[in-house]
Amino acid sequence: MPDSSDALVVLDKVNKHFGDLHVLQDIDLTVARGEVVIVIGPSGSGKSTLCRAINRLETIDDGTITVDGRALPQEGKALAHLRAEVGMVFQSFNLFAHKTILENVTLGPVKVKKLPRRQAEDEAMALLERVGVANQAQKYPAQLSGGQQQRVAIARSLAMRPKVMLFDEPTSALDPEMINEVLDVMVALAHEGMTMIVVTHEMGFARKAANRVVFMADGRIHEQATPEEFFTNPRSERAKDFLSKILTH
Ligand SMILES: Nc1ncnc2c1ncn2[C@@H]1O[C@H](COP(=O)(O)OP(=O)(O)OP(=O)(O)O)[C@@H](O)[C@H]1O
Ligand SMILES: [Mg+2]
Repeated sequence: MPDSSDALVVLDKVNKHFGDLHVLQDIDLTVARGEVVIVIGPSGSGKSTLCRAINRLETIDDGTITVDGRALPQEGKALAHLRAEVGMVFQSFNLFAHKTILENVTLGPVKVKKLPRRQAEDEAMALLERVGVANQAQKYPAQLSGGQQQRVAIARSLAMRPKVMLFDEPTSALDPEMINEVLDVMVALAHEGMTMIVVTHEMGFARKAANRVVFMADGRIHEQATPEEFFTNPRSERAKDFLSKILTH
């Protein structure tokens, strides 16, 4: 079990509006080094906005977000380095269509981290091996299946040696038979000690890999519990209602 005193990501009274919509409301969340946190909740509850705020793809109105003790930088080089420390994998794989798989993975390390190309390629090949797509290295994204592309997207994030990885519904755009190949990579990553914040409704992943489930609705965190507690005995009415919907459809 991770040591909760060793906080890696800390959100303190974070608020954000989109016009009149109060999309993040007084969010307090601390994620310890090595911890795997699942964020779950109805559509529109603010899960993606929360992830994007941690990576500073969205600004916040007030409150603070720190990663490894440092406040999120506003812009420029410091922000590029923060983005390297906070890896993000989206529902749509977002690979560069006109670059090979290998180039997709080496681009960040060469451009942002100034790694020599040869070293970046060696490391990229090792990562592609780890996610099971090393034999696709010279192909272009469109030549790969969705599950393969998503594993490349994970390798591309890992190539920046992030301190924490954010996943926003990484399997929801995939055909059912490809979901597990991506989840298996994520479970392995969790077991290797990566700090992860994962927006997902995949209960199998939650049970195998998560330390904690955070339930969001209407821009607020309504409850937090272990996966076992949350899925078998949710406390809030909102969570009970939500679970009854996802369990029966
Ligand atoms: N750029 C934006 N401008 C205006 N409103 C936005 C913007 N992005 C999101 N919203 C709104 O903020 C709310 C929260 O959106 P968000 O995408 O964070 O929800 P979510 O929990 O990730 O939902 P889903 O499960 O559907 O992915 C929604 O009502 C959404 O319409
Ligand atoms: Mg979302």
